[in-house]
Amino acid sequence: MADKYEQVLELAKRRGFLWNSFELYGGTAGFFDYGPLGAMLKRRVENIWRDIFVINEGYYEIEAPTIGIEDIFIASGHVGGFSDPLTECQKCHEPFRADHLVKDIVDNPDTMSAEQLTEVIGKNNIKCPECGGRLGDAYEFNLMFKTAIGPGGKRAGYLRPETAQGMFVDFPRLVKFYRDHLPFGATQIGKAYRNEISPRQGVIRLREFTQAEAEIFIDPRDKTHPKFKEVADIVLNLFSQEGQVSGEMKKMTLGEAVKNGIIAHEFLAYCLARTYQFLVRVGVSSEKMRFRQHMKDEMAHYAADCWDAEILSDRFGWVEVVGIADRTDFDLKAHAKQSQKDLSIYVSYDTPKKVEKFVVKPDMGILGPKFKGKAGKVANALKSLTSEQLSGDVIQLTIDGEKIEINKDSVKFETVTEEVHGENIIPHVIEPSFGIDRITYSLLEHSYFEEDAKEKVEDAEEGEEEKRIVLRLPPEVAPVQAAVFPLLSRDELIKPGTEIVDKLRKAGILVAFDDSGTIGRRYRRNDEIGTPYSITIDYQTISDGTVTIRDRDTMKQVRAKVSDIADNIYDMLHKPHHIFE
Ligand code: ATP
Ligand code: GLY
Repeated sequence: MADKYEQVLELAKRRGFLWNSFELYGGTAGFFDYGPLGAMLKRRVENIWRDIFVINEGYYEIEAPTIGIEDIFIASGHVGGFSDPLTECQKCHEPFRADHLVKDIVDNPDTMSAEQLTEVIGKNNIKCPECGGRLGDAYEFNLMFKTAIGPGGKRAGYLRPETAQGMFVDFPRLVKFYRDHLPFGATQIGKAYRNEISPRQGVIRLREFTQAEAEIFIDPRDKTHPKFKEVADIVLNLFSQEGQVSGEMKKMTLGEAVKNGIIAHEFLAYCLARTYQFLVRVGVSSEKMRFRQHMKDEMAHYAADCWDAEILSDRFGWVEVVGIADRTDFDLKAHAKQSQKDLSIYVSYDTPKKVEKFVVKPDMGILGPKFKGKAGKVANALKSLTSEQLSGDVIQLTIDGEKIEINKDSVKFETVTEEVHGENIIPHVIEPSFGIDRITYSLLEHSYFEEDAKEKVEDAEEGEEEKRIVLRLPPEVAPVQAAVFPLLSRDELIKPGTEIVDKLRKAGILVAFDDSGTIGRRYRRNDEIGTPYSITIDYQTISDGTVTIRDRDTMKQVRAKVSDIADNIYDMLHKPHHIFE
């Protein structure tokens, strides 16, 4: 029997959600096209993400190029270290992830070096899974797609492996946009590219995929969140570092998790909460979701703490769909060093601080006439001395190799107490990073149901009589939001049908008109693409101006007025099922 992945992909391909890319030419692993329904579903998922992070959190969206110059990825660490261990079959030349081949033999193979993996492969006599051939030595393979900017190939460029760097590189502009005030965030939804070694997990591991990322710049001295109270009672499945050692996953409120130090701080916990709310809203099952903390040796080079939102998939087990990391000041410091620019921000103290300051005041009235062109250098040299060095009657200096003596009357010094109102700091970054393709696949899998057919379908094809396939998508993400059926394909019913279609379209509702086959057949066609509401026009419509609206999930039907149809459907898309209650 087909597993859930096969069932979902069969439906997804047949009904225009997901297609293998370049199918006409035989296809290539790691690329998928979104068909007409898939593209709309994905867009709706992205728009819900925007609603949460851009509109409600206020993290404006930017759009940076998908190709980056080399400096960016030298600073970010991707040129030096964004690699996976590769081993190639010496007979059929098929490449494999070396760490994946030994995952049943050693713990945490992703923390091992290429040399260690080669040793494990050799000692355990692991052969090519495809042809049984000998495997070559493992080596680190950089996952970035390299290209050249401009003709001549002189300037290296890379397809971005994450959208995040766009926000870091734009940091000085963003600081001004947000009027020098922390915390602030910027987001991006866009393509990222990774030349994955052997993408055998279908839509889960792509070479081109969509990320939705928020980079939230915070003051490292304050990792509380002003809205944490709103989410403190949310209960999540938490699989902490300790839990992974003892094998215990805990259901816990976010408030408790922060109090017990399981989640490092409120800001991170707040991002877990918003992630959870987003995933549930788009249709991922909360029962099949957990938050797993990265083990210390698993953490990315930039992260101090990281929690992955993982979803349970029938075929692949727990799959990471979101990574929520505390990236500290790693990226801004690295870009400051690479670009030689100051990426600090001035922050004011709540109450000014008193600090003691040692001040040296060279007397230029004496030094100027005496040292002429060198007087400035002499003054600077004096300013760098300590009180002990300035205490003698005569101060010795070496300026441009020449030894000079300064009389103590030429310089005054004192320790003063100053009021300081703030300081320059490098912000820390909290980053929730979402893989939109994995999320879109997950919600399809979690919404896919095959049920005993309760409605009769007269013109059912073989097998259809017994079962109904239904995608129980949240109405808000359903690609087609309503379907309109004239009971019979006759002009007197088609005309009011097309009028209803027009009304719904004017209200911004994506609607399908279907007049072929029996009503039962049409319901089935729409159930399996997740259309939440079907509207049937019959002869009563002509006499009393009402239609039936059928609810996809309960299959309940109500009669409703044509005059209210657009308002009703619009409301139900955002407040599901209310006229069926
Ligand atoms: P994995 O361990 O599965 O390779 P990752 O740890 O490399 O994932 P991140 O670098 O944290 O993933 O990327 C952030 C998000 O981008 C992931 O949570 C995932 O949803 C998505 N993502 C990463 N790589 C891919 C890919 N090859 N195909 C599809 N989505 C991906
Ligand atoms: N921005 C996190 C990642 O893609 O690795």
